[in-house]
Amino acid sequence: MNKILVKKELAAKIKLFDIHAPEIAAKTKPGHFVVLRISERGERFPLTIAGADTSEGTIRLVFNEVGKSTRELGCFSEGDEILDVVGPLGNPCEIDSFGNVLCIGGGVFAAPLHFVASALHRIGNNVITVIGARISDLLIFEDELESVSDEFHISTDDGSKGHKGLTFVKEILDQNSIGRAIAMGPVAMLKAVSEITKPYGIKTMVTLTPLMVDATGMCGCCRVSVGGETKFACVDGPEFDGHQVDWELLTSRMRTYLTDERTASLFYERLGRGD
Ligand SMILES: Cc1cc2nc3c(=O)[nH]c(=O)nc-3n(C[C@H](O)[C@H](O)[C@H](O)COP(=O)(O)OP(=O)(O)OC[C@H]3O[C@@H](n4cnc5c(N)ncnc54)[C@H](O)[C@@H]3O)c2cc1C
Ligand code: FES
Repeated sequence: MNKILVKKELAAKIKLFDIHAPEIAAKTKPGHFVVLRISERGERFPLTIAGADTSEGTIRLVFNEVGKSTRELGCFSEGDEILDVVGPLGNPCEIDSFGNVLCIGGGVFAAPLHFVASALHRIGNNVITVIGARISDLLIFEDELESVSDEFHISTDDGSKGHKGLTFVKEILDQNSIGRAIAMGPVAMLKAVSEITKPYGIKTMVTLTPLMVDATGMCGCCRVSVGGETKFACVDGPEFDGHQVDWELLTSRMRTYLTDERTASLFYERLGRGD
């Protein structure tokens, strides 16, 4: 169970795993996530499901090696088994007929965005996709996303490929009547997209990735403020209306354990363990 059947390196520190998890694959919809634990003393950490194949009984995970747990996971090989994979968790993204849909994905989240954009495209939406990364070498899922998009754009922070930054998105909004915007990526990008779409009155759903512990709505770690109400991203989300999110609170909460995360990472680097 939870055997890694396929492992690929998509870019520096970005890995793709197809994992044999038939029970999860059977229930997965775009937007769901899983929680992994890779060793008895390891922490639980969430990853968004980037695809599910019910005939093969596999789920796809694409992750960035940012700290101890994700770096440890990145060392797993094809044939290795992951101790615990729990899911599918959270609520799926709303997949409906919106007409023109703007799908925006940042960094590693281009992969789960592909799962969402495919579903939207399949039911007849006109999908306009934008993927972004810091630099062109970190762009992933370009061909896959282009193949399910009616219009496809690339953005990099340094302008090394496609448009520089996200300001050009306003031109897309000026030229098209957009029924829904969907964004997945780092918090700063989700906030920027929400600010761009707000004056146009376009409903903008963002997938939030606050720190999570139990992912069952019990611990409160993932609480976010949306429309003035406290929500738990693991059970109430992770997709929320970006125009209602308290971005400052989210950003500051995500920095809560920065020192501990850096220490764990350093221990892992020096000693091969971080617990
Ligand atoms: C619902 C959900 C879905 C997610 N899906 C994916 C995914 O598909 N692919 C993927 O690569 N990552 C995803 N993440 C983020 C992933 O869970 C974290 O990167 C991971 O837990 C970091 O663990 P670590 O021990 O490797 O790093 P840590 O030591 O915990 O952290 C290392 C660095 O990463 C930052 N970091 C830690 N957690 C997060 C987070 N939640 N969001 C942004 N920065 C973080 C820390 O601030 C620190 O700078 C998701 C998070 C959530 C909540
Ligand atoms: S992670 Fe504990 S309530 Fe959401």
